[in-house]
Amino acid sequence: MSVVSVETRDNLAIITIDNPPVNALSQAVRAGIVSALDEAEGAGAEAVVLHCAGRTFVAGADIREFGKSLKPPWLPEVIARIEACDGPVVAALHGTTLGGGLELALGCHYRIAVPTARVGFPEVNLGLIPGAGGTQRLPRLVGAERALDVMISGKPANAAEAARAGIVDRLAESGNLLDEAMNFARELVAGGEPPRLIRDLSVEPVDPDFFSEYRKRIAPKTRGLMSPERIVRCVEASLHVPIDQALKEEREHFFECMASPQSSALRHLFFAERQAVKPPPGVSASAEVPEMRRIAVIGAGTMGAGIAYSCLGAGFEVTVLDNDEAGLARGQKTIEGLYKGGVARGKVSREKAADGLGRLTTSQDYAAVGGVDLVIEAVFESMAIKQEVFARLDRVCGPDTILATNTSTLDVDRIAAATDRPGKVIGTHFFSPAHIMRLVEIVRGAETEDSVIVAGLPLAKRLRKVGVVVGNCFGFVGNRMLYGYGRESQLLLLEGAAPEQIDGALQDWGMAMGPHAVGDLAGLDVGYSVRRERTDLPDDPRFYRVADVLVEAGRLGRKTGKGMYLYESGSRAPIPDPEVAAWIASEAEALGVEQRAIGEREIVERCIYALIVEGARILEEGIASRSGDIDVVWVNGYGFPRYRGGPMHYADTIGVDKVYAKVCEFRNRFGPMYWEVPELLEDLARRGGKFADLKPAG
Ligand code: 3HC
Ligand code: NAI
Repeated sequence: MSVVSVETRDNLAIITIDNPPVNALSQAVRAGIVSALDEAEGAGAEAVVLHCAGRTFVAGADIREFGKSLKPPWLPEVIARIEACDGPVVAALHGTTLGGGLELALGCHYRIAVPTARVGFPEVNLGLIPGAGGTQRLPRLVGAERALDVMISGKPANAAEAARAGIVDRLAESGNLLDEAMNFARELVAGGEPPRLIRDLSVEPVDPDFFSEYRKRIAPKTRGLMSPERIVRCVEASLHVPIDQALKEEREHFFECMASPQSSALRHLFFAERQAVKPPPGVSASAEVPEMRRIAVIGAGTMGAGIAYSCLGAGFEVTVLDNDEAGLARGQKTIEGLYKGGVARGKVSREKAADGLGRLTTSQDYAAVGGVDLVIEAVFESMAIKQEVFARLDRVCGPDTILATNTSTLDVDRIAAATDRPGKVIGTHFFSPAHIMRLVEIVRGAETEDSVIVAGLPLAKRLRKVGVVVGNCFGFVGNRMLYGYGRESQLLLLEGAAPEQIDGALQDWGMAMGPHAVGDLAGLDVGYSVRRERTDLPDDPRFYRVADVLVEAGRLGRKTGKGMYLYESGSRAPIPDPEVAAWIASEAEALGVEQRAIGEREIVERCIYALIVEGARILEEGIASRSGDIDVVWVNGYGFPRYRGGPMHYADTIGVDKVYAKVCEFRNRFGPMYWEVPELLEDLARRGGKFADLKPAG
């Protein structure tokens, strides 16, 4: 069946795009629209309605075509063809009209939308700019500032906002979009309304310093990104460059962005995030997913409260249990505070807050969680305590209740062994702050049933998070890799790099924060106690030595006002502390580590390549099924720059052979203890392969 069809009714032509799942503008669709318009005009149609079958109007260009040679007709040609029609063309919008989809709609002469429709330009999330006239037509409709806000944020607007801004001419309230769009077209014909071309409008003038001010305003949020500046330049051009010339310049910027490593990284993540939420190989996708309505959270501390808040936000009935009365009261207060803050910032309505809190119960009695569908345990990170909690849960919960642990490092199988239902036990590793961070590692134990794994994925989606299924090992994917990254950042201190130099180098490279500032934020005692529990640490007195010294001196990070850095009261800004520098120097001397000047490049390579090496081992062992899963974990949980695509994509970008050569160099220079080359890395380097091309492990 053709992806574009045309039908004439009286004097109208109705063009239908039917290209599931999101009606992306593939070459067949682009060509189909052009021939449908030819056919409509050939049949004497006086007006055209352009609409889509399925769940949405066009959600954008077909991202799968990017990076390949694009076949004609190109979208700007399709839009020019629409604009050249003799009679009005009305776009009928439902679902998500995004990117090239919105450009197509802006090329039409009029737009009508259902109230639930959303419209926007999310290209920036893919390292792109609107490349088919969006940067020129939107400012003509809504002004430069608003157009920039839409394109730089990438966030879609709802239909009512779009109508207020003039992007949409009419809202279809009756529930039958096509009928209303046809009526609109008939009215236009009857009223003798000529086709209205947005390109013929001019952009409202702005203050002379508007663009320089705007650039300053967006700088913190667009650090390191290439496409926002291109968008600003195009909108600047919309004010004073003739439109055909400006459209040509826009197209050039678009292709430059598309060819950039940034866009390739962001497109990789687009697909990797969608792949990650599918059951991994070897897990039956048809396993029946149990319905979930009631959730219990055990432990009302930092994580428990955040998890409970997320679950309430997703509509679940939530019971929070804590064995400590004060802890329970604190947890309840935290949840109420989160709602209060949400209301104050306008993120949550008063009604939603009241509804959420109405679904919350608290208890100290395990009998209260007997009837729930899922339990998420977030008590202290201690195997003995977790096993005791799971044994109790096993006794009080129904046989089908799924028992999940939020442990960040402990063995999920040993926790499961405390129950008679190891098949129903799983890890759900949330990140702090749990109501904000998008990542959840879904940890499958040796006996976890497929249906339990498969249940974790839609749960994460319902909580508006990205769930990634990972295997059970110390630290799973994220924290296990963090160990290598943290280890290098600690060794570099002893070797002579200052904390602020290390943090600065990695932040300049793109990490959201440097490792030492992160350590202070999380609390240096957290890693310290985890290291005390481990029995498999390397026999190396340098290993996390500086962090240990700080903790033993009571410098736990921000919470004590001192850690790797100093913090002035009420300020989050880390201040380098000469006392720490002196301690580091004396520790280095005591350990016989020679201090030297270290360049930024070495800092970045040692920390980032340590991640890649551990990632390669994780793939070898099947702890992650796909290299893209590792990337999704690191960009969503650890502040790895999205525009570098994640550690494994980054390795593919610079070339696995180059990474291999550098790791060999580090092994020769620093010894094999930390730099033994994983077989997978060597194998890929020798055959010129990429992590992305590996067959998923299952
Ligand atoms: N091209 C190709 N495939 C796409 C696509 C696109 N633009 N948008 C979505 N898909 C695919 C997804 O990969 C997924 O495939 P899968 O089932 O094989 O994994 C499927 O459609 C469904 O997507 P989601 O799982 O994301 O479905 P949701 O319902 O959760 O979300 C959506 C729908 C809001 C449309 C979301 O998919 C989305 O944001 N898509 C991208 C929109 C976008 O970025 N558009 C701009 C593209 S760039 C452009 O248009 C350039 C232009 O200026 C020239
Ligand atoms: P926390 O110390 O803030 O809270 C733990 C809560 O559990 C306390 O309120 C305590 O009273 C309660 N508790 C202890 N034993 C209990 C029992 N037997 N029954 C009922 N309640 C009990 O701890 P936090 O930071 O929230 O961590 C919880 C879990 O989440 C740990 O396993 C931790 O490793 C993990 N985690 C923590 C992260 C963090 O950044 N804080 C990040 C990711 C995971």
